Amino acid sequence: MILSWIEDAKRKAVLKALQPIKNGWIIGIGSGSTTAYAISELGRLTKSGKLEVSIVPTSHQVENLAIAHGLRILSMNEAFTVEYAIDGADQVEQTSLNVIKGGGAAMLREKVVDSAARKLAIVADETKLSKHLGGKQSVPLEVLPFAYKSVQTQITRMGGRAKLRESAGKAGPVITDNGNFVLDSDFGRIEKPIALERRLKAIPGVLETGLFINMADVVYVGLSTGEVKVLESN
Ligand code: A5P
Repeated sequence: MILSWIEDAKRKAVLKALQPIKNGWIIGIGSGSTTAYAISELGRLTKSGKLEVSIVPTSHQVENLAIAHGLRILSMNEAFTVEYAIDGADQVEQTSLNVIKGGGAAMLREKVVDSAARKLAIVADETKLSKHLGGKQSVPLEVLPFAYKSVQTQITRMGGRAKLRESAGKAGPVITDNGNFVLDSDFGRIEKPIALERRLKAIPGVLETGLFINMADVVYVGLSTGEVKVLESN
């Protein structure tokens, strides 16, 4: 199989992020195309008897993939300790390792699992790196369907623009795995992510944001050169 350099970079970043994993660990796996490589590699290691781990999935996508690869699955309520979480990103601020997530509408469960993990590793190709958060990248918000119009109004009052995410393969809005809507909210360049996160979480009807601030311990970045750059939090 010939991979584009981006797919190759994602896969190499994932392979490096898997290296610290030890037998018996419970591992949270984020959703998306990058973390899918983690599932297939963990499946391969499990089948060959080289590793025995349990997976906490963050979406139906990951759960179905894990089942297909014969991995042991635990729900978040069964997982006593999540030793390690591996998750993708839509944008990574390279100095702070703050991240925007939610391109796959899985940020609510991802944030629950990632924040429970002893260590969070983000995996991405170099196109996700950015000098600043925001800009062209909007912040996905998971919102209660009942409240989405009032949340939109509040976002507009804050100076942002919130667009209801439309579904592909279904008429109407995207419905998350939790039965909610997604508002892709544009705030331009985000200078104060902690303050923005606080304001957004204070809006009734906002269930979670795609801002993952001060959460990543390490970011594995697959480069176009074929190398993997490792960025660690201070
Ligand atoms: C899922 O909701 C997202 O947070 C993903 O982690 C993010 O969109 C990255 O996805 P890719 O790995 O497909 O780029």
